[in-house]
Amino acid sequence: MKERNVVVIGGCGHVGLPLGVAFSLAGHDTTLVDISEKAVKEVNSGRFPFLERGGDELLQKALGQGLKATTDAKVCSDANVFVFVIGTPVDEHLNPKLSDVVRIFDYYREFFSPGDLVVMRSTLFPGTMEHLHQRLAASNPGVHLAFCPERVSQGYALEEIESLPQVVSSFDDDSFDDARELFSTIAPSIIKLTPLEAELTKLMANSWRYLEFAIANQFYMIAEKSGVDFFRLYEAITHDYPRAKGYKSPGFAAGPCLFKDTMQLASYFDHQFYLGHSAMLVNEGLASFVVEKLENEVGDKLWGKKVGLLGMAFKANNDDIRESLSYKVKKSAEFKGAEVLWHDPYLEDSVALNDVLSQSDAIIVCTPHRDYKDLKINKPMVDVWAMYRESTLELLPGKAG
Ligand SMILES: NC(=O)c1ccc[n+]([C@@H]2O[C@H](COP(=O)([O-])OP(=O)(O)OC[C@H]3O[C@@H](n4cnc5c(N)ncnc54)[C@H](O)[C@@H]3O)[C@@H](O)[C@H]2O)c1
Repeated sequence: MKERNVVVIGGCGHVGLPLGVAFSLAGHDTTLVDISEKAVKEVNSGRFPFLERGGDELLQKALGQGLKATTDAKVCSDANVFVFVIGTPVDEHLNPKLSDVVRIFDYYREFFSPGDLVVMRSTLFPGTMEHLHQRLAASNPGVHLAFCPERVSQGYALEEIESLPQVVSSFDDDSFDDARELFSTIAPSIIKLTPLEAELTKLMANSWRYLEFAIANQFYMIAEKSGVDFFRLYEAITHDYPRAKGYKSPGFAAGPCLFKDTMQLASYFDHQFYLGHSAMLVNEGLASFVVEKLENEVGDKLWGKKVGLLGMAFKANNDDIRESLSYKVKKSAEFKGAEVLWHDPYLEDSVALNDVLSQSDAIIVCTPHRDYKDLKINKPMVDVWAMYRESTLELLPGKAG
């Protein structure tokens, strides 16, 4: 195997850091380059700047084996593998911010030499790889280029890097072989695709999840608006019914990936990905729906009332608040004149849970953190996750007895 001197650009982020740790533990000389001084400092002190299961222990092991983080891009002069893991958001018109990817790629291009491997790891707008390929061919011939998208679930990256098949794509065999060799040191198997296939695969995987949540949320709203308890329907639909296996239950679908990846696919398809746009309207609309539902539960306007929110992170048992719908709920309740008290066990500036529970007139469960599982809440509440609901399935014996 070739000796690898890997730099991970965006290496202290949610995807870059677990990946860098995995490369380091696999024996590669690995350096994390990041513009965030705070994150670099925290990583070098052996702490993940965000929640990652088992992260600190493995990070410390990797630091012991030579992993380091820096803000100094000059370390790239010694590298022969460049892995880009920077954010790829959409803009205010829901189109991808392509210029960011190209600008950062261009900035590091001076460090590339013939025979080096450049891996794009971020989720990319379809066609980005073709653009970078053309750019590179003109300025840096002989550099290998591959797209190997990350597919892990946030917070579980270190476990999943080891267990998920790795998509590897490139425009030529040398680049493919090079990238395959690198990822074979950390992934159990490799799926070969073309770059465009890989770009679409990643976006379609996330859009599909976003749509699955949207249909559950849409049905929830239809039922609840009709005065019907959706979860009685949910139990009836899914109980012993094989074709409903995997039927999602409702909840906030947000975070830094699903929404923006669905919008990237929509933008790629000239904004005619109607299902994607509809999913966005439903999932985003759930935030104001639950606030209106709370008014019904209270039987009055929220003006002057105290509303308690449980959970501000975008998903359970995680500290990431990026694109969390809890903040949309907060804004909506405040606009209706409520004073909002919020709690999240993962956030430092949280109000104490007991204060939120005792002082609020009504509660919305925004994020189903496991810390909330055993609470007894005896006030008006909206619990879209059915955290506190007991089954009401009326199941009677039939032929089977
Ligand atoms: N978060 C996830 O679970 C997840 C999963 C799969 C794929 N992705 C994709 O991975 C990509 C990265 O997402 P993320 O959640 O890790 O983002 P992030 O914001 O957590 O990490 C990006 C990092 O890049 C750094 N950075 C920005 N500009 C830089 C520059 N010029 N040079 C060096 N570092 C720079 C930032 O400081 C940050 O630490 C996105 O395309 C995202 O869609 C994310």
